[in-house]
Amino acid sequence: MPNIDNMLSSNPALKGLKDNLAQFSETRQELIAQLLVAGQTQLFENWDTPGVNDEAKDAFLTSLEKINTNYPGGLSAYISNAQILLAQAKESKNPFEGLSPEQPDNVNLSEFGDKYDHYETLGLQQFEKTAIVLVAGGLGERLGYNGIKLDIAVETLESTSYLEHYASSIKAMEARMTNPRLLPFIIMVSQDTGPKTLKTLESNNYFGLQKEQVFILQQELVPAISDNNGSLALKKTYELILKPHGHGDIHMLLYTSGLAEKLANKGIEHFVFIQDTNGQVINALPAALGVSLEKEYDFNSIAVNRIPGEAVGALAKLVGPKGELTLNVEYNQLDPLLRDTVSPEGDVPNAQGFSMFPGNINILCIRLTSYVRILKESQGIIAEFVNPKYADASKTTFKKPTRLETMMQDLPKLFGPGEKVGVTIFAREWSFSANKNNIVDAAAKYQAGSPPESSATAEDHFYMAGRSKLQEAGMTVNAADNELILGVPFQLGPKVILRPSFAMTLAEVRNKVSGGSISDQASLILDGRDIHLEGLELSGSTALIIKACDGAKVTVKGPFNNEGFTLVKLSEEERSPESTVPEYLKIRAYKFENSGAQIYEFNEPGEYTVEN
Ligand code: UTP
Repeated sequence: MPNIDNMLSSNPALKGLKDNLAQFSETRQELIAQLLVAGQTQLFENWDTPGVNDEAKDAFLTSLEKINTNYPGGLSAYISNAQILLAQAKESKNPFEGLSPEQPDNVNLSEFGDKYDHYETLGLQQFEKTAIVLVAGGLGERLGYNGIKLDIAVETLESTSYLEHYASSIKAMEARMTNPRLLPFIIMVSQDTGPKTLKTLESNNYFGLQKEQVFILQQELVPAISDNNGSLALKKTYELILKPHGHGDIHMLLYTSGLAEKLANKGIEHFVFIQDTNGQVINALPAALGVSLEKEYDFNSIAVNRIPGEAVGALAKLVGPKGELTLNVEYNQLDPLLRDTVSPEGDVPNAQGFSMFPGNINILCIRLTSYVRILKESQGIIAEFVNPKYADASKTTFKKPTRLETMMQDLPKLFGPGEKVGVTIFAREWSFSANKNNIVDAAAKYQAGSPPESSATAEDHFYMAGRSKLQEAGMTVNAADNELILGVPFQLGPKVILRPSFAMTLAEVRNKVSGGSISDQASLILDGRDIHLEGLELSGSTALIIKACDGAKVTVKGPFNNEGFTLVKLSEEERSPESTVPEYLKIRAYKFENSGAQIYEFNEPGEYTVEN
């Protein structure tokens, strides 16, 4: 233990601590000594004499111990990392100095066709060596939903939650494996989202998943820092200010839990990282895996065409004298980088109206062999950064305490020339339509020409993906117009949900759908592996729902006609906080009323035909 006697005797503000020290365990005394040596005297100044506020002292030391255990290298490592990063931030070094951006290695799958099918076929074969990693620790402040985002319905015809959608996608992946196994599902939660996530899983019987395939990792908050020396900030005596460390924590947790290595040893080759409210990810997943496999990418970033200026990072190959590295350039760093190098006008649209570089949507497909090695080398601490807001020109004081942060897409910052980074570009709404903004902000974004990324648009695109799949299979799909609901666009139909159980690839949809047509206001939901449509015709606002258990082969034929679902806009009163309308509807400002959808459910194996 470092000798701190001198410090304790020479600093009158530490008298209280000195008097209390003997009552603490040896490990606690050691931690206190380490922190004092690291210059964190402020944490222990003006303590009460023994017997006064002892519970608060105990809670404070418990929180320090917890952080010391959770952070690789402990609090001393956190403080010294902070000092280094703060010194760099003070110098305002351009992180991309001397580097010039070029197009990253990429596979463009923004259109369907043979190439798309090829990668889906490959990806399908990789399901049994894949695990899904869902980062779900975020607060969702922009959406402002009173609960966890995973509980929100991704669509409101049947009100399936995001978590249920992901779980049923995993079940569908398992059903398509040649050698079936449980597909590991890793969920990162935080203190804010953890208890509710577990409650939802438990009260829904894990949505059909086995408990042993679901791994919950909880990210912890990190201490805030009040100055360039890395001094930990106090809310008051005996209480630290704690803040989120960012979604890059997933790498640290996969390292400290040993889970990445354990799953690699069990034959898992790829982790696909997904977000809490992007239901579209499942559309892109098979082909993205196929690309990772064929191109032998260690890190495959799924990307979309980027709108200039939007708050989405750009994926670029940065080339310099010492080599090249494909990275996510955050949107605030992109414009200066472009101005300094390839585009004096900055982040401006190209001839197609898009940014020069594809946009990162944080769906990542990572190869485990290199991942496990890099986690060991870095202890899972991936490219931390700090973003202090300075109060003075000399960059000495902060407006408010800052903290170290980390983003999961920054993993390639630790790559060397041996690792391959690539990008797979998909059509935007096919692969990405997050539910992250409240209606007012979404409407403003729409006005400004940016994607609204609201509950309504996420639901709209969920149906759109279904429509695209039917169209791809040769069905005639008549599209309705867009309607603005409180300034947010929503296409009235047709509303098509092809559950993952029905099809995971376009080839599967083609095999099961032959001819037919669906009108612009109609709805169709198919849930089951062996459902076949033969010349199905849905007219007007007709709605048809078919659910078939495993072993039930259902052929659906000919015309149907009913009143289906009607969209009803919510009144101001219904949207008010006092109203009992469920919050997942309030954040959309509409609901669907069932005026006679035909529902056919087959719960026994057998052969069935459904026709009017
Ligand atoms: P978002 O960018 O949507 O952030 O996170 P957010 O924190 O959830 O929402 P706002 O900014 O408060 O409105 C992208 C993904 O990363 C996860 C989120 O849950 C989401 O799936 N995330 C974010 C974490 O898991 N942990 C974090 O600390 C932050």
